[in-house]
Amino acid sequence: MFKSLADWINDRTGYRALADQAFNEPIPGGARWRYVFGSALATVFCMQAFTGLLLMTAYSPSSSTAWGSVFYISHVMWMGWFIRGMHHFTAQAMIVLLALHVLQVLLAGAYRRPREFNWWFGMALLFVTLGFSLTGYLLPWDQKGYWATKVATNIMGGAPVIGPSLQKVFVGGVDYGNQTVTRFYGIHVGLLPPLLVACLAAHIALVRRHGHTPPQKAPATPSPAWPEQVFMNLVASVGVLSVIILVVLAHGGANLDAPADPSNGDYPARPEWYFLSLFQFLKLFPGRLEAIGTMVIPGAIVLVMLLLPLLDRILPRSFAHFLACGFVFGVLGGAGFLTVQAIRDDWDDRPFLAAREKADQARLRAIALALDPGVGVPPEGAGYLLARDPLTQGRAVLEKRCLGCHVHDGKGLGTQSASDLARFGTRDWLRGMLENPGAGSYFKHAKGCDGMMEWKRTTKLKPNELDVVADFVAGFASIPDDVEPTEWLNQKEVAEHPGLKLFQNDCGKCHVIDGLSEGGLRDAPGLFAWGSPRWFARMIRKPDALDRYGYLETSNRMPAFGTDQVSDADLNMIIRYLKDDYLKPAAAPAQAR
Ligand code: HEC
Ligand code: HEC
Repeated sequence: MFKSLADWINDRTGYRALADQAFNEPIPGGARWRYVFGSALATVFCMQAFTGLLLMTAYSPSSSTAWGSVFYISHVMWMGWFIRGMHHFTAQAMIVLLALHVLQVLLAGAYRRPREFNWWFGMALLFVTLGFSLTGYLLPWDQKGYWATKVATNIMGGAPVIGPSLQKVFVGGVDYGNQTVTRFYGIHVGLLPPLLVACLAAHIALVRRHGHTPPQKAPATPSPAWPEQVFMNLVASVGVLSVIILVVLAHGGANLDAPADPSNGDYPARPEWYFLSLFQFLKLFPGRLEAIGTMVIPGAIVLVMLLLPLLDRILPRSFAHFLACGFVFGVLGGAGFLTVQAIRDDWDDRPFLAAREKADQARLRAIALALDPGVGVPPEGAGYLLARDPLTQGRAVLEKRCLGCHVHDGKGLGTQSASDLARFGTRDWLRGMLENPGAGSYFKHAKGCDGMMEWKRTTKLKPNELDVVADFVAGFASIPDDVEPTEWLNQKEVAEHPGLKLFQNDCGKCHVIDGLSEGGLRDAPGLFAWGSPRWFARMIRKPDALDRYGYLETSNRMPAFGTDQVSDADLNMIIRYLKDDYLKPAAAPAQAR
């Protein structure tokens, strides 16, 4: 019954002839391991199509959602990390296999007459694959893809005549943004796959037409592909897939860098490893010579590669073959040398390593924030993930705007002429200051700020009283933004606080608080709500206000920061950073992929 069903199907489809063609294809000289690359490549390509389709079901191509959706795939979706990892590493395996395949074809002389077209379709496949890599690299819209793509498209833009327009077409305008994502995505999933299938079909059809190239010193007794060659192909495909799976497991999937941040120009951009040689090569052609490195020489190499099959029209056949092999191995050797050089250059490049380290921290931070149920990827776009993180953004603005004078945890980036802002506004900071206001981390270096040192020389408060008053003043930081001094004083906890009297009698001689103290002994900053967000904000926006340091006449004062220097959002970030109000980094990030 089974046989009659098979007959029936064969009658309608002719599948037996097809299978016959596939399995009983004659292999001149018998089955060989070196023939396995083509079929391994086809397997790997099917893997890419399959994992790519799965990724498409979850990926969302836009500059605001791409990162979040890739994050979802890598960290939330069931098996998503594995699928993405397979797609990522299979892409690299494809490049390796292609290179091996090309070398094998070259050594066997299989690129020559009558297989010229085969060689050309093969080259086309190589370029389509590189196109997949280039476009795919950008799709997560993370820092490494963003900056590497910027470098790549700038190279494209440097091409004579058509370069700028070509770049504009690919980038989708002048700026890199949503249009860049949608275009690259369209090319990656809409344009390149059919192109690859077409080239592959033509390539395979031509292989069938011309058959395998017989080995030079082989008995001319062809044997059918089945079973030996088919078996070898199968082993190779399984072997390649196993290696890829092992690599994916070892890496825990593919990396996702921090979300793309166009303002972060010091990102240490590097291309994928197989483009490193070109990257290194470009360093040899600075300035106006650049086009030689980006266009002329690579273009010449490609042209020669394309013309290799025609070489034996003008040269003796074996000499042409020798030259062709020499050329390709020379290019590969040079590329290998440049790759090693590129890696070694980075090894002892301190600024690069520091930037790399910073980028890694940003990556881990972004993942931790996105994973946290209280934070998550903002619906406005992953770009806001780190921009709204006090630890990242607050720290960055502090470094840029404040640490030119101040220090933080003992570390300053400039004159170190102002106080240590770590834990500012807390009981710790205050108690330390009351102990020794003339210490380096308090008022030692601030010009004209000798009020607390003067206080220290004259105060009668004993250490335990200082504790109590410190408790009292440290509570100011939690006074809500809309509460006025008199209102606040009416509260029971305040009115009955043992520190209240001490404050009035001692601190109140200089520090004025409506309804609590009159001051008068000398000018001093207002302390109401000291350490609260509003106190901070006023200190940063208006340090020269009379209730801040406006009474000081010395120059070298803290400058007022307007919204043009520190935006309201950034002000909030600084304050939250200084007040320790952010998601704490875990000792070991849970899923640090
Ligand atoms: C040009 C140097 C300079 C810069 C930049 C600067 N400060 Fe200050 N800061 C001072 C000095 C000096 C004081 C002491 C008061 C004064 O002299 O105005 C001070 C005081 C403060 C105080 C009050 C505590 C204290 O030590 O008196 C806070 C809080 C503060 N700065 C925060 C900041 C923040 C936040 C920034 C960044 C947005 C910043 N400062 C930038 C010099 C600076
Ligand atoms: C002799 C006047 C005087 C007395 C008394 C005094 N202070 Fe001050 N205080 C100042 C002056 C002036 C400053 C500004 C910095 C400087 O010059 O040392 C200051 C600064 C401060 C600051 C930092 C403000 C900022 O910029 O962040 C705090 C907090 C503070 N005093 C708390 C107290 C407490 C608590 C007491 C009472 C135990 C007290 N002070 C007593 C004069 C005084």
